Amino acid sequence: MRNFTYHNPTKIVFGKGSIAKLAELVPQDQTTLLTYGGGSIKRNGVYDQVMAALGERKVLSFGGIEPNPCYETLMQAVALARAEGAGFLLAVGGGSVLDGTKFIAAAVKYEGADPWDILATHAPISGALPLASVLTLPATGSEMNSGAVISRASTREKFAFGSRYTFPVFSILDPETTFSLPDRQVANGIVDAFIHVSEQYMTYDVNAPLQARQAEAVFMTLIEQAPLVQAGPHSYEVRANLMWCATQALNGVISCGVPEDWATHEIGHELTALFGLDHGQTLAIVHPALWRHELSRKLARLAQFGRRVWGIQGLSDAQTAEQAIAQTEAFFQSVGVPTRLSQYGIALADCAPIVERFRRRGTKLGEHGSIDAEAVGEILAMCV
Ligand code: NZQ
Ligand code: ZN
Repeated sequence: MRNFTYHNPTKIVFGKGSIAKLAELVPQDQTTLLTYGGGSIKRNGVYDQVMAALGERKVLSFGGIEPNPCYETLMQAVALARAEGAGFLLAVGGGSVLDGTKFIAAAVKYEGADPWDILATHAPISGALPLASVLTLPATGSEMNSGAVISRASTREKFAFGSRYTFPVFSILDPETTFSLPDRQVANGIVDAFIHVSEQYMTYDVNAPLQARQAEAVFMTLIEQAPLVQAGPHSYEVRANLMWCATQALNGVISCGVPEDWATHEIGHELTALFGLDHGQTLAIVHPALWRHELSRKLARLAQFGRRVWGIQGLSDAQTAEQAIAQTEAFFQSVGVPTRLSQYGIALADCAPIVERFRRRGTKLGEHGSIDAEAVGEILAMCV
């Protein structure tokens, strides 16, 4: 096992009725800026619950944070927060609202010329406004990590940043808020959580069997719960299990002391930036292809995954790995997320700018740093 430092300061308040706990958790003596997305929280009653819990506090609202939150929109919130002296940010929504709010928190305090540099050049930040969240979409793990992914509409770019200052102080996870999710977002969330686990597991063995089994537990629970949510979308228990899986998939526990991949995410972000695909949709396309491309390097782990997670028995490592990839691709399809570019009308030639971008940046992806622009092109060719 490799050396690691693990510190996760986010308090999780989980369960039905827990939005009322905002009354105790949000500071009384600060102006709170409540951030939200396109209005789902106004339709499903979450906004009313939040406002009731906040009571007499001074609260400003900033709505309209879009899926794949845009720098251009977020900078309007930065201006509002600065003008009104907001001292606390409360994000209410899915990963996009949470991520956008992390960026607002960092940008308000940023002293450099352009906060875009936090994303584009990883300019260091030395502080952020405190933020917290009420999560309404289990998928990203943003509720218990310090990362955020922000898009720039004008240049069609999408970049990530993370900082020790951008962990939520607390996150409220009430599974009842997820009853109103469209099927597409439930499915995206299952795929996203699954692939977060894979990015931290499907690499190579460093003798960290606990982390491997923790990852396998999340895989197996997602595989078990996915058909249950399809069959019974109003089951509180199933929603609760999915929500906790998604948080556990990316709160730093399973990556302790192990190598990580993240190539699927890097390539997926480009598909979102160029074609507007949902984050989960991009991952379902790229991940099986990436596994096939990296088969020899990931063989031992794929075989372990096939045997332990999918229960494949009696085959060679190579056969087990191939069957595990096929079963995983079929799983993504079974939850309702297509796994090929052609299903979105995207041809390989349309992806040429992605390869060009990676070539220009000199990016090397994957746990071995071996996936260069040419390999990205090969992987995309396997996604068609
Ligand atoms: O905007 P509103 O009206 O709220 O509607 C949203 C949005 O249209 C809707 N929604 C959310 N909760 C709902 C609901 N509709 C009905 N009922 C509810 N309870 O769902 C739509 C999608 O929301 P979004 O927040 O975009 O989805 P998700 O949570 O999947 O977040 C995706 C973003 O997170 C980033 C992705 O790149 C993408 O930009 N990621 C963030 C990560 C992190 N911070 O660690 C890691 C991930 O890998 C990912 O990259
Ligand atoms: Zn993701």
